[in-house]
Amino acid sequence: MERFDQINKDNLPTHVAIIMDGNGRWAKNKGKNRIFGHKNGVQSVREVTEAAAKLGIQYLTLYAFSTENWNRPRDEINALMSLLVSSLSSETKTLMKNNIRLMAIGDIESLPSNVYAKLNAVIKKTSENNGMNLILALSYSSRWEIVNAAKKLVADVKKGKVSADEINDDLFATYLNTSEIPDPDILIRTSGEFRISNFLLWQIAYSELYFTKTLWPDFRENEFYNTILDYQNRERRFGKTSEQVKS
Ligand code: FPP
Repeated sequence: MERFDQINKDNLPTHVAIIMDGNGRWAKNKGKNRIFGHKNGVQSVREVTEAAAKLGIQYLTLYAFSTENWNRPRDEINALMSLLVSSLSSETKTLMKNNIRLMAIGDIESLPSNVYAKLNAVIKKTSENNGMNLILALSYSSRWEIVNAAKKLVADVKKGKVSADEINDDLFATYLNTSEIPDPDILIRTSGEFRISNFLLWQIAYSELYFTKTLWPDFRENEFYNTILDYQNRERRFGKTSEQVKS
């Protein structure tokens, strides 16, 4: 049986988040420069997005560029930004055809103006699509997001819109970039690193974590399906006992 057919479509994660890592090492292993790795990483983005949509996953979040990535060499940043613009241009048709809605989280106003404009144009064009939501984390870091949420909340408290007694987990979450998005059920990180790297720290409180040694440009459709199969074998207890969950 094909891996796709082995997946129980009634027990899919609603939200899959991915830290796409290892493009640089993949390229180095082949004696090429880092940008070559990013270019090949785009093909994995395409395959995994299509596989997720085909399965019926509702939210797929990809960590495409972190706040810390601004510290990379200028030419690498420029190459990543151009790849983003060219991918957005070439993939808009596929997003429309597959009924995928594009969203973004992060400090997107800090992106170069052409990237920001292209991103907003595709977000707008796909906004009526009601299939999978593809969320790109761009110039994103979780601490930035949480601090920003705290600032907005304090402003609302000062204005008298919110009282301090009302503040709880649910209210706080409405101030995050992900207020419209359910928490990830599974977080995948490729490339054999066991770190979260400032990604969705609030939202992954109860997510299943999946680490694979595969470098991102090699992480394709079949390995994505394997990951979902692995997820389906886990017992999610949310702090309860195994017996409580089963009854
Ligand atoms: C991590 O590999 C990857 C990134 C920082 C960027 C991910 C970007 C893409 C896959 C291409 C553009 C994205 C879209 C959504 C079209 P690394 O460079 O940190 O690899 P290393 O750890 O081996 O150096």
